Amino acid sequence: MKLRPVALAVMAGAVAAALGATSPAFAADPPAPDEIVDAFEAVLGPVRTHRPSHAKGTCAAGHFVATPDGTRLSVAPTFSGQRVTATIRFGVGVGNPNGADTTRTTRGLAIRFETPAGDIWDMANISAPIFGNPTPRVMVDGLLARRPDPATGQPNAERVAAFVAANPSTTYQGRWLAQNNPPASWATTPYWGVNAFRFKGQDGQVRHARWVFEPRAGTLRLTEEQMRTLPANFLADELRTRLGRGPVEFDMVLQFPGPGDDLVNPTVAWPDDRPRTTVGRLTVTEVAPGPGGACDPISFLQLDQGPGVEFSDDPTLHARTGSYAVSLSRRLQ
Ligand code: HEM
Repeated sequence: MKLRPVALAVMAGAVAAALGATSPAFAADPPAPDEIVDAFEAVLGPVRTHRPSHAKGTCAAGHFVATPDGTRLSVAPTFSGQRVTATIRFGVGVGNPNGADTTRTTRGLAIRFETPAGDIWDMANISAPIFGNPTPRVMVDGLLARRPDPATGQPNAERVAAFVAANPSTTYQGRWLAQNNPPASWATTPYWGVNAFRFKGQDGQVRHARWVFEPRAGTLRLTEEQMRTLPANFLADELRTRLGRGPVEFDMVLQFPGPGDDLVNPTVAWPDDRPRTTVGRLTVTEVAPGPGGACDPISFLQLDQGPGVEFSDDPTLHARTGSYAVSLSRRLQ
């Protein structure tokens, strides 16, 4: 069946309900999708016009073609080797749609793949190799620890400090971001999927893997001076200028775990020397001329594309689809 974005939006509520707290892969005491979005809103206030995470973004479009290795390693329709259309959103990891492009946070690459037969696969990736939360419960607790105190309008510093002391792995991503300045362009950073998935290959074997989209233009980060002086909205203009010269390309690369590598905790990267295989190329050919576009009214739900690309047991992965759907439902109200 061909699923159109509108149909997916209508499904959002049902997906959210179905994915509640019942999946066996969830960690103990998992937050329900509504509780997760409520926690974002406890910090940001009601969010009805934009996303609570990566609130700022620009729509783009292009296509994806799997390599022969990709076709070998996944039986999922996206990896057939046919050209698959890509609806794309490049994001900035801020809670405010007017946040600055120089903010020391992650940048996002969200992609909806759609095969000629209408199979849809959504994913959202970030420009850091690790996530800031080991479990969805810790994410909710961290957000609630940072909710503004009604008396001051600011988070309570003692409450935040106590949360961080109790959950040190929530600082790992911030430490990485402190050592790696934000990208100079949406086209000059790797974007990591961060969560592990199970890839089922043509040989019937199931292999755990994480993916990264490597920029063919190379990695280029802002200098400290550029972080101080560049305009707040430079990223979209830079991408428009760049695409005027030709397409922007990323290689999708799978990384396979070694013995003992953590399959369920996205705050821990796997060592760089783990085997890697290039499974496809994403080619970005268009960018929206201004705000809005095809990526705006949808949510990149982070879908399981079974049997070729299935969710691992990482609880943060299982928390995504339902909470993204609830977030979209609130935007559509
Ligand atoms: C506990 C795990 C997570 C939860 C509960 C969560 C929650 C959310 C929510 C509610 C949204 C807004 C979706 C929308 O309104 O359309 C969002 C967006 C996003 N998330 Fe997550 N997230 C989680 C993990 C991750 C991870 C591991 C990554 C990185 C790979 C990630 C990357 C993104 C990106 C890039 C967006 C923006 C997507 C877009 O541009 O539409 N998230 N997240």
